[in-house]
Amino acid sequence: MLWNFQDIHLQAQAEAKAIDNSQALEAFRLKYLGKKGLVADIFASLGKAEAADKAAIGKGANDLRTLVESLIAEKSSGTISTKSAVELIDVTLPGTGTPLGHTHILTQTMNEIIAVFEGMGFVAIETPEIETEFHNFTGLNIPIDHPSRDAFDTFYLDAEDPTAKGRRLLLRSHTSPGQVRIMKAHKPPMAVIVLGRVYRPDAVDASHSFMFHQVEGLLVDEKAQFSQLKGLLTEFCRRFFGPKVIMRFRPHFFPFTEPSAEVDINAEVLGIQRKKWLEILGCGMVNPKVFDAVGYPKGKYKGFAFGMGVERMAMLKYGINDIRLFYENDVRFLKQF
Ligand code: PHE
Repeated sequence: MLWNFQDIHLQAQAEAKAIDNSQALEAFRLKYLGKKGLVADIFASLGKAEAADKAAIGKGANDLRTLVESLIAEKSSGTISTKSAVELIDVTLPGTGTPLGHTHILTQTMNEIIAVFEGMGFVAIETPEIETEFHNFTGLNIPIDHPSRDAFDTFYLDAEDPTAKGRRLLLRSHTSPGQVRIMKAHKPPMAVIVLGRVYRPDAVDASHSFMFHQVEGLLVDEKAQFSQLKGLLTEFCRRFFGPKVIMRFRPHFFPFTEPSAEVDINAEVLGIQRKKWLEILGCGMVNPKVFDAVGYPKGKYKGFAFGMGVERMAMLKYGINDIRLFYENDVRFLKQF
């Protein structure tokens, strides 16, 4: 007989065993079941075969087809799919998921500041970023000829203040207008913090930005004292930076507080080498002229206020040396916090 069916079957089984991708499976199918495949060849050989062999050859070809079909079925449903190996999906593997983001380091820092002051009984609020000259300057006893009112120091809008004819709206240059708004709307006693973005047309460099964040504090009652302000800010710095912090109060001037001071933090102690002392906030006793401007009765109330730069606080606490890093949104930076 022309064909050794036993060997052919063994050969097909061995070949099927080695198949591990869909191309190999298709090649296997064509080799045996294709138009020019082995099964077709065997049938074609029937014409020339001895009459006595014909039945065996026909049966052998049929058996081979059945065997190859079942090998292919087994391969495509079980050990391999009809897709290539690299496309295989193992549904039992854990999912890849979407990476979770987190709050920006500035938001984290603001939340930390809020948490300390809330723990001391302050209430956190936001007031508008677009302000009137009254709230940003006049109500805070900043006179009309003060340099900070200059167009070089403030972003003015091309929009008239609906409450003051001929005056333009502006992007607030500090969070202190929040003091004026809150005092106009509420009667003491009060202890609030105001937070958010402020704008000054400064040239951008490692320590300046035309936009940054401030947290403003205001406490008003009938007997607030400067010593309480000092105690409060000292305790705040200890809680925010940790017990090793060293700070100093330095006399200063602000039109809306009297007396006034600035607070510097010793950067060396916190492990930052740029400068020994870094200014973080301005503060003082609320100037009675501000109480007049918001319509409080003369002599009735006392208060203190402070305003701090959030970026500065974060730079000191986390050892960040360039303010621009906060706004570039480079994930390699943001991921570190
Ligand atoms: N608004 C002041 C500034 O931006 C800071 C300040 C706030 C000072 C409150 C005193 C009281 O520099």
